[in-house]
Amino acid sequence: MCGIVGYVGNREAVGVLLGGLKRLEYRGYDSAGVAVIGPDAALHTAKKAGKLAMLRNELAEHPIAAGVTGIGHTRWATHGGPTDVNAHPHLGDEGKLALIHNGIIENFADLKNELLAQGVEFDSETDSEVAAKLLGLEYARTKDLRAAFRAVVGRLTGAFTLLAVHQDEPGVVVGARRNSPLVIGLGEGENFLGSDVAAFIEYTRQALAIGQDQMVVITPDSVTVTDFDGNVVEVEPFEVQWDASAADKGGWSSFMLKEITEEPDAVANTLRERLHDGDVVVPELEALGDDILAGIDRITVVAAGTAAYAGLVGTYAIEAWARVPVDVQLAHEFRYRDPIVTPTTLVVSISQSGETMDTLMAVKHARELGAKTVSICNTQGATIPRESDAALYTHAGPEVAVASTKAFVAQITALYLLGLHLARIKKTLPTGERRAMVAELEAVPAKIQKTLAVHDRVRQLAHWMADTRSVLFLGRHVGYPIALEGALKLKELAYIHAEGFAAGELKHGPIALIEPGLPVFVIVPSPRHSEEMHRKVISNIQEIRARGARVIALAEQADAAVLPFADEVIALPLAGKFFEPLIGVIPLQIFAMELAAAKGLDVDQPRNLAKSVTVE
Ligand code: M6R
Repeated sequence: MCGIVGYVGNREAVGVLLGGLKRLEYRGYDSAGVAVIGPDAALHTAKKAGKLAMLRNELAEHPIAAGVTGIGHTRWATHGGPTDVNAHPHLGDEGKLALIHNGIIENFADLKNELLAQGVEFDSETDSEVAAKLLGLEYARTKDLRAAFRAVVGRLTGAFTLLAVHQDEPGVVVGARRNSPLVIGLGEGENFLGSDVAAFIEYTRQALAIGQDQMVVITPDSVTVTDFDGNVVEVEPFEVQWDASAADKGGWSSFMLKEITEEPDAVANTLRERLHDGDVVVPELEALGDDILAGIDRITVVAAGTAAYAGLVGTYAIEAWARVPVDVQLAHEFRYRDPIVTPTTLVVSISQSGETMDTLMAVKHARELGAKTVSICNTQGATIPRESDAALYTHAGPEVAVASTKAFVAQITALYLLGLHLARIKKTLPTGERRAMVAELEAVPAKIQKTLAVHDRVRQLAHWMADTRSVLFLGRHVGYPIALEGALKLKELAYIHAEGFAAGELKHGPIALIEPGLPVFVIVPSPRHSEEMHRKVISNIQEIRARGARVIALAEQADAAVLPFADEVIALPLAGKFFEPLIGVIPLQIFAMELAAAKGLDVDQPRNLAKSVTVE
């Protein structure tokens, strides 16, 4: 959840750290801090509760030394509230060393008691300070940062990325990870550490991903990765495909708005190099082997939040095309239900960040049970794809706004590629039909582009509804997960009670919620795909309208049948049955963003949230 940056080189570390933290702020934004070893060979720190801007103000008023070695942290609180004192870095060895942490140290209470018994005093309520104090004691004993750090990480349980510096070893940053992310950026005469590549993308695109239970020591001219026992390990370098500007807001008023407008590209780039001669060939899946894929008799998708809703959209098409039963399980529930997984089960994880702890643990569990695992992920060098048998990257580019938008459409696109690839191997969909689906997929970016034109209309609606306290979303078939996603967007951005329902479920209880004036968004399926389903949704609209609901229908532009029954109609371009969600979700994303904006809320960093949820 927290963002971590480390730097050693020849630039002024504070500037590098603040730049990196700015790009990582989406990971957590309730406090921030930096520690730098100054030219006076002393450690200097600054930390502040609140967003990064508060730390910047503090540093403007009280600048710290211009050192070239440092670490920086942006926090999402777990243990201890978001206060100045609980902000990282935490200090050890009488203020000579600083440590930052992402994750949860599960045995911190035992360790803290042990340290308290030795007379060690604590300033904060965090689990992280325990690691700082332990490191202080070890350093005092060994006078060797590497050895002391190794001894400390060996004593911790839980999930952690840790970075530390000691004033007696200027020009050195040490780091370690277990179940929490850490990547290395390789420069000329300088090196970087970060929770993800965004931390250093401004300076280098050459990176190394550190594996589980590994430690790294960076100096300006060297990078050494070892396991926790100190054995040197080789790590594969990779080139970051994003460029620095992709992670900048540019001239946009928010990252979310920028990312919504990037949705056509997110889909187009995810399709690129996976379509050949009108058919789907996904090289990353070929690596799994056609025989294995041909034998898959069940698919389980594991994911959380928006990614799980993308999975739910995917189930309809994959089942229809590849004739394999597909279910979606919330990643945090998966392990605890003794899931039925066999060697012929394909477990598909979906995660924008590739670091969501719940999803990572589900993937590990699936592998232990013998399943084949495929990761659909948007972030290079992330943990989940590296822990999976195959990785199918979505090429949506960096998603910075906490609310997921472009990643969602890219995830559905990747699932469709997976479904069509499987259908080809399993011979479950005739070539002509596969090609027709490919043509539909290729047409999606232009249709999303066209849909973006509804923005002004939707903004108007959002402004009218700025005082609304509750909104419902209804959909059937692939419209159902879109209803869920519409509700999630509204909750997380505008802090409004919102719920998504399968339209057919309404009469089984939720219809009692309808009262005069309640806004209800209804995702209307095209009558061209199923007259029956369309008729049923129109009936549902009449049922709620009869009870006073204010109906906002999302319907394809030629659908005149909906007009007499809806208070508002948002007209969408025509699309194939399985492709409607890729278009229908756009107005709902815009609506949530505009309603939040109308309420004066921060659409990029909603309260209490973090983009990358690296705790369970
Ligand atoms: O990085 P991931 O895709 O694994 O994240 C999963 C969810 O935490 C994420 O989709 C969350 O629900 C978003 N805030 C929704 O906008």
